[in-house]
Amino acid sequence: MALSFIPFDAPLGARVTGLDITRLGPDEAGQLYDAWLKYHVLVIHGPIVSEDQLVDFGACFGKIENARRRSSLASRPEIMVISNIRENGQTVGALPDGELTFHYDRIHQKVPNKAGVLHALEVPDAGGETLFADMCLAYETLPADTRKRLDGLTALNTYEYGQTHAENKKLAQDAPTAVHPVVRTVPETGRKALFVCRLMTDRILGLSETESRELLDSLCDHAEDERFVYAHRWQAGDILVWDNRCAMHARRDFDGSQRRLMKRVTVGESRAPQ
Ligand code: SIN
Repeated sequence: MALSFIPFDAPLGARVTGLDITRLGPDEAGQLYDAWLKYHVLVIHGPIVSEDQLVDFGACFGKIENARRRSSLASRPEIMVISNIRENGQTVGALPDGELTFHYDRIHQKVPNKAGVLHALEVPDAGGETLFADMCLAYETLPADTRKRLDGLTALNTYEYGQTHAENKKLAQDAPTAVHPVVRTVPETGRKALFVCRLMTDRILGLSETESRELLDSLCDHAEDERFVYAHRWQAGDILVWDNRCAMHARRDFDGSQRRLMKRVTVGESRAPQ
């Protein structure tokens, strides 16, 4: 089937039309992959799909990983539930409440994810938008002398699961940490992307603490500017896939008395960022 990709009126992202998710073959997977490389974020509006269909869709972008945490609301091990729903006072999913600072999934691991897929099942009336920042564009629009300064720099990334803001970060002794280049290259396109984020990047190595803090703050302020950001307002049934190598994401606050239920599939990567 011939798919169409309609770019959003935003720095990144496109809507996919003409896709029947029950009939995904290699041809459709190839078209989706090429468009994902180009637009970094793809959105499909449609009905709620099964977990099998969601996993098959995610597999168009690479190897699917099992979820880090299982939920009573998911049957397949690959499905991670993100939700504020509570049963007997316990959350049924990860990242339940409110705002979430900009981050790259698993940048604190040696090999961060390649892509993420989110599927909305229940959404609040207002708020809870997921924001995506185009980090290729953010890099390309830095002043030339800043780009030169970043050449060869690496940064330390840390995270404690469940944390939604960078302030008062407390890490367990055995919390995974990873050093990655501050600027990475997307292998298929050769485009460079800024690879730091406010939630998880702690420090740029080889600089004094003050220099590192100032540089990191200025890079994050730059990248989070609305010139580089697409805000996705969810409708139940939406499927969204993003390139976790060059699009960081965040979430806006929402009314905690309203239910928000998302299922996520994670696409793994085989090599560390370069
Ligand atoms: C996530 O960071 O994977 C969650 C995003 C969201 O809940 O919108």
